Amino acid sequence: MAVIVLSNREPYAPRTGPDGRVHWTASIGGLTTALDPVMQREGGTWIAWAETHPELRTVHLPEARPRYRVERLPLAEDDVRLFYHGFANGALWPMSHYFLERAQYRREEWDAYRRVNETFAQAALDCAQDGDVFWVHDYQLALVPGLIRRARPEARIGFFWHIPWPAQDVFRTLPWDRELLEGLLGADLIGMHTAAYTRHFLEACARTLGAETDVGTVRVGARTVRVEARPIGIDVATFETLASSPVTAERAQRLRDNLRTLMLLCVDRLDYTKGIPERLAAFGTFLERHPAARGRVTLVQVAVPSRERAPAYRHLRTQVEGLVGRINGQFSRDGWTPVHYIYRGLDREELVAHYRAADAMLVTPLRDGLNLVAKEFAASSQDGVLLLSRFAGAVDELPGAIEVNPYDVDGLSATLMRALRMPLEEKKARLAQMRQALRRHDLRAWTADFLRDLAGVAALPGPLVQL
Ligand code: ADP
Ligand code: F6P
Repeated sequence: MAVIVLSNREPYAPRTGPDGRVHWTASIGGLTTALDPVMQREGGTWIAWAETHPELRTVHLPEARPRYRVERLPLAEDDVRLFYHGFANGALWPMSHYFLERAQYRREEWDAYRRVNETFAQAALDCAQDGDVFWVHDYQLALVPGLIRRARPEARIGFFWHIPWPAQDVFRTLPWDRELLEGLLGADLIGMHTAAYTRHFLEACARTLGAETDVGTVRVGARTVRVEARPIGIDVATFETLASSPVTAERAQRLRDNLRTLMLLCVDRLDYTKGIPERLAAFGTFLERHPAARGRVTLVQVAVPSRERAPAYRHLRTQVEGLVGRINGQFSRDGWTPVHYIYRGLDREELVAHYRAADAMLVTPLRDGLNLVAKEFAASSQDGVLLLSRFAGAVDELPGAIEVNPYDVDGLSATLMRALRMPLEEKKARLAQMRQALRRHDLRAWTADFLRDLAGVAALPGPLVQL
């Protein structure tokens, strides 16, 4: 009895190094960050897209200390274009994040989406043993639960939707709304990040399918599907330990010494949902309004490249780089550069040193399913302030953050000043409040609860419930 995880993104990506050998680098994104530690504890199989090196089909990861198996699925070039860049990232992603003007619904892309979902479902069925539990992830694979259910009516299937589930008036713009819901309802248990998303989902089931729903459940024939808010936690202890280590303290101090100013930190995938241009504009306004802040505050933006082949993402990069250049051109003086822009991912140690060094962390997405960066900062910082968008799912769980409206450039600029002037005791009290909430629902609890509820405690005496 084991867990079979399915996601489009693989946990580690193979890259050929200068020595000609293949090295596995951790993928960046909320889904893989959360699930890799789960699989390292549980073992099992993870099925994911082989974006590069299609010849490597079955691998054992992580490289240094293999704990689980990855079945890598190569996709045809046309399917990558139509399924990944097309329906997943050109239709479902913008629609779920309320960017309807960016959503394009094309029949050919929907057909590819169905085809690729069939490939994933078949791969899972091929490697499943009796009693295995299927745990399917995210909007790229919404049809997989229904496909597995059709082949194995008795299967235990969980699904986690990592992004927002939008209001019904937005969702019903999708021409294949019924099919998407029916696919998802093949699962026994569907998890989402917030109560609002689950309410929207239940409303969609009632109105689009005419299904019978109750609080947290949908009737599908003889089955009852549970739909619950279960926001992903982080491994709080690991972040706390790393953040308080002498090596991190020294790295953080070095970062502060190099800047010689207060530090505002922003860490994101370079995605239009993250509100990076709006945030930079707010920082520009802040510097205009507060001449005394010039030379005393620096914004560090760490942006990891994402979906670089898509024109919308390439355009965003150009836009962000233009804004960084404009602000730096306008305000730099006496060796001070207002915005430091890092276009790459940081490794875990570097990242936590940045969290620790920051006086304030700006997490200001225009829309975000949850946002793990906010939680990671709250678990790592000792004296920083978290500014958090009211449109990030994590805002429900982090009352110690200062809630901001990312569309309100003036308001954001004013809140920055408030954050930088906040007394130390208040900062510490807010962090302590957030840490308490994070500890109560950390990653271990999230995993254990989900798998236990999915499989049923009695059916699972093995490692799944021994977290
Ligand atoms: P998303 O899933 O949309 O990328 P999240 O904030 O939920 O957003 O998750 C992002 C994950 O990726 C976090 O664990 C964060 O630490 C990591 N990450 C994001 N940007 C970077 C970066 N520039 N360098 C290193 N890690 C990053
Ligand atoms: O966490 C949300 C998410 O959409 C994941 O599904 C995805 O893996 C990640 O962000 C990054 O996107 P991509 O897989 O397209 O690089």
